Amino acid sequence: MKPAPRIAVIALAIVIVPLAARSSGQASHTAVDHPATEPAVAALPTFTPPPDSAIPDDPFGALVRKGRDIFTDTTRHAQPYVGNGLNCQNCHLDAGRRANSAPMWAAYVRYPRYRAKDDKVNSFADRLRGCFQYSMNGKAPAEDSEVIRALTAYSYWLASGAPTGKDLAGWGYPKEGFKPPLPPSYARGQKVYASHCALCHGTNGEGQQVAGKFVFPPLWGPESFNWGAGMGNIDNAAAFIKANMPFSRGGTLTDQDAWDAAMFMNAHERPQDPRFKDSIAATRKRHHDSKWSLYGIEINGHLLGTGTPPRDQ
Ligand code: HEC
Ligand code: HEC
Repeated sequence: MKPAPRIAVIALAIVIVPLAARSSGQASHTAVDHPATEPAVAALPTFTPPPDSAIPDDPFGALVRKGRDIFTDTTRHAQPYVGNGLNCQNCHLDAGRRANSAPMWAAYVRYPRYRAKDDKVNSFADRLRGCFQYSMNGKAPAEDSEVIRALTAYSYWLASGAPTGKDLAGWGYPKEGFKPPLPPSYARGQKVYASHCALCHGTNGEGQQVAGKFVFPPLWGPESFNWGAGMGNIDNAAAFIKANMPFSRGGTLTDQDAWDAAMFMNAHERPQDPRFKDSIAATRKRHHDSKWSLYGIEINGHLLGTGTPPRDQ
């Protein structure tokens, strides 16, 4: 498709930041103004995962294929562990291959690593299990279950030959240096949503189904990710949206539109955070103490975090 949106973001940072900071002088701008980000981004090694046709015809290949099937059609192939209408690839595009949509080849080589979310060094399996609990609003499969073994095999295979011990270009969602020009706004986001998102994701964020299967995934409500998910943080959502939405036209929204749409999306109710304890206020304090989470914040007279009623199975 188009060149990595991360590059577009860097280009914007180079052009817009100096223009805003001092209205003349694009030419005199040097990396010294923001030394922390640019050289690090530029230095990341690039990587292309192997094509599916290279999956071997042996027991390892069979497990890799199983993992790919679970990844693309999670609600079908890992049904006991899924509590909403989503599939892994709804947020990790092209079966987990697409750069800047947290691709699995880049993820695989980032583990083990420490995560503040559960205050421990996470194995890759731990990370996968977390996605089932929060993004899929379901249950974590056992570490030695076929689901985790297959998803691990698929990711390991996608990362065949990748350099290890380094972040790769295109890992995660491109958050570095991605800041909202103005604080995100619900009212502006509502307009962005109506003109750029509702067509596919529905007027009420409910997505669209054909024959009981989602063809456009739900963004909020009982069939979407729960309050504990990474996508519930406005900064993650804004970076994902900027790079990947509207679908097949990633990189076309302005930064402000992406932040506003993310704020609007995440200002709606969704399934309760499975870590909920005592009260919304206490849960906010323990797990959502960030300006990018609206959990426990009142919007339009509604206290976010009450959760949606459980889905009927
Ligand atoms: C609703 C969107 C969504 C869905 C669905 C989803 N994820 Fe994720 N995933 C995210 C977000 C957001 C992050 C980054 C979270 C963060 O930075 O805290 C992430 C991160 C990850 C990572 C770590 C990436 C890295 O580079 O460290 C892995 C591995 C992963 N997801 C696997 C999965 C798998 C497997 C599934 C399906 C079982 C899944 N995800 C479903 C949104 C989603
Ligand atoms: C042309 C249709 C289309 C438009 C327009 C569109 N999306 Fe999407 N969106 C999709 C599809 C399809 C997926 C799932 C991608 C996949 O599975 O490969 C998706 C996935 C997502 C996801 C991750 C999955 C989830 O349910 O949370 C978010 C968040 C999202 N879109 C937000 C937006 C926002 C915000 C806009 C408007 C700025 C937008 N999308 C516009 C089709 C669209």
